[in-house]
Amino acid sequence: MPATDYDPCWLRYDRVPEADRREKYRRRVTHVYASDRAPELGAAREELRAGLEGLLGREPHLWQHPPRSVDGFLAVGHPDEMRVIGDSVDADRVRSLDDEGYLLRDVEWEGADVLVVTAPTDAGVLRGVFDLLRRMSVGESLAGLDVTSEPANAERVVNHWDNPFRGSIERGYAGRSIFDWERLPDLRERYVDYARLLASVGINGLVLNNVNTGIPSRPGENDVTANRHGWQLLAPENLRKTAALADLFRRYGITVYLSVNYAAPMRLGDLDTADPLSSDVEEWWARKADEVYEAIPDFGGFVVKADSEGQPGPYDYDRNHAEGANVIARALAPHGGRVWWRAFVYADHDDRAVEAYETFEPLDGEFDDNVTVQIKNGPIDFQPREPVSTLFGSMDDTALGCELQITQEYTGQAVYACYLVPQWKEVLEFDTHGDGPGTPVKDTLGARPGEGIVGVGGPGEDRNWTGHYLSQANLYGFGRLVWNPDLDAETIAEEWVRRTFGTSEEVVDAVTGILLDSWQPVIDFETGGIGLIHMMYNGEDVLENHYDPSPREWPEYTGISEDGIGVDRSPEGSDYVSQYADPVAERYADPETCPEELLLFFHHLPWEHELADGTTVIQRLYDRCFAGVEATRDLRDRWMALEGEIDAERHRHVAERFEEQVVQAERWRDTLVEYFHEYAGIPDEKGRVPIDD
Ligand code: GCU
Repeated sequence: MPATDYDPCWLRYDRVPEADRREKYRRRVTHVYASDRAPELGAAREELRAGLEGLLGREPHLWQHPPRSVDGFLAVGHPDEMRVIGDSVDADRVRSLDDEGYLLRDVEWEGADVLVVTAPTDAGVLRGVFDLLRRMSVGESLAGLDVTSEPANAERVVNHWDNPFRGSIERGYAGRSIFDWERLPDLRERYVDYARLLASVGINGLVLNNVNTGIPSRPGENDVTANRHGWQLLAPENLRKTAALADLFRRYGITVYLSVNYAAPMRLGDLDTADPLSSDVEEWWARKADEVYEAIPDFGGFVVKADSEGQPGPYDYDRNHAEGANVIARALAPHGGRVWWRAFVYADHDDRAVEAYETFEPLDGEFDDNVTVQIKNGPIDFQPREPVSTLFGSMDDTALGCELQITQEYTGQAVYACYLVPQWKEVLEFDTHGDGPGTPVKDTLGARPGEGIVGVGGPGEDRNWTGHYLSQANLYGFGRLVWNPDLDAETIAEEWVRRTFGTSEEVVDAVTGILLDSWQPVIDFETGGIGLIHMMYNGEDVLENHYDPSPREWPEYTGISEDGIGVDRSPEGSDYVSQYADPVAERYADPETCPEELLLFFHHLPWEHELADGTTVIQRLYDRCFAGVEATRDLRDRWMALEGEIDAERHRHVAERFEEQVVQAERWRDTLVEYFHEYAGIPDEKGRVPIDD
């Protein structure tokens, strides 16, 4: 693998440190019988070459037939190619696997130990190869291997919020966009390495551009500049650029998509309407789809943010969201394409939480089959913690996608260590009771074609791709979790650490522990830990950052007043709570049974309301703000203790961010404590609060 000036992340393939393990691996995989009939298989062979050479210190010997002179080899290919090594591979079992599923199996053939990687499709074989390399990277034994794996979610997509041509990334904290639209269709080596990273964790879809396709997303930018990054990707001269990327990502089993502007027929075409019921509009989309598929026959489809935060949409024509989505879906249907229609819609309402459900649930059953309604995990907006969106489990006749955020918009923006897999686990395991008890979110996605999980990811041009070395764990974890939501957060973290920082047990334990303990402190110091949200800076100027504390800006999100705090979403308030199925609705509706971590999301409570353990609301808020700072200091100290155990560059980078995170946590604590105190007028009973009474 040529040296690059950016980090290989978890694909480092460092030499297996133990000589005996290395020897065992060498016997099994130095010789490789591998087909290269298809582009994905070519990619698999390249990966094996790079991976095995790195892990074992010896370039593997690639054969076009099973070698007979050795006592062990690796066999990689389709079941029919495996036939030459006998029946032990169980071709029927392989053929019955999902499209991207695969089998890893240790078999014997003519006295040789053969490790087989096989799958019904090329993409499946590639996934199997990455799985094998993962096992070797973490030091697993290969003897007796007999594993089949299939993705739990058919669609596993990363959404880039990159602004083409301009090169910026909305809510991206890792530098400029890696996609160089000026130079495309010329390709960069970095695209290949990005494709490898994504494919290695099972991602199969990539949206290349921002969901905001039509308005300047930063004040001060003129429309002409902004216009270039939106709908213009659909212009013929730009389609060949997308086609070049599609060719590259296809080798890695990844389909590309574009975000499109709802009013494209007017902005790119010359229509004077984008009304979904207009036949001109219908024809425009159909022609455009033909053109796109002419350039990219396996193009994935379009993502649409409509009637949301200034984007145009069907409401401009008094049409509903199903009508809006379906006109585009009909254009894509003959080509097998899909519309990902975002449910992130809110307008003038006293409680924004109720809106997505009120907008979409009544339309259940009206969306075409090739529309996926893409729903953020919570009803507001990727807060450190939110309840799960009420749309999951409530739209049985619609294909649904769950949108998570990999980029840390509200969780520290590549300054904080904040491992998000535990948050996503909480979402996916949440029992919606949509179809009676035992209907977790993860099981509500998957019954229909086109369902799956989307992650808003902000990898960028930074050397480490994600802005913070530890944030790489979120990209990694996203892929691993959406392939298999039954994996636990600890397994994923530990695996990532082993692949990223090596297999020293001390380092593995320490870094895994830091990751697992990193989310709660952020919740605590940014929200007080009992259900408040959105107290971060949100101003309309260029500094808008969702990072600094600024609780006074949006009092409607905290419901703060002299008599108490929290937002009443019970039946006496906005009644958001009734959008849940029972018994969830009942549980949330009563402050006595509502889980404490969500209490103030659902209830406005007096400052001196007593929680289960007798502590008052105000005291709990103080306590959690302080606990968040203490825990952050502790994380920093644990990281500092690793000096000398981790290479200096990565250690220093993370150490600097921890120092900054501690300062930021203290700012949050002081700001929130002062804010709470100002309304409550009740000092911290522990006397810690820097408040002048
Ligand atoms: C948030 C985020 C925006 C983004 C929007 C969306 O509001 O701050 O930058 O455009 O979500 O998901 O569409």
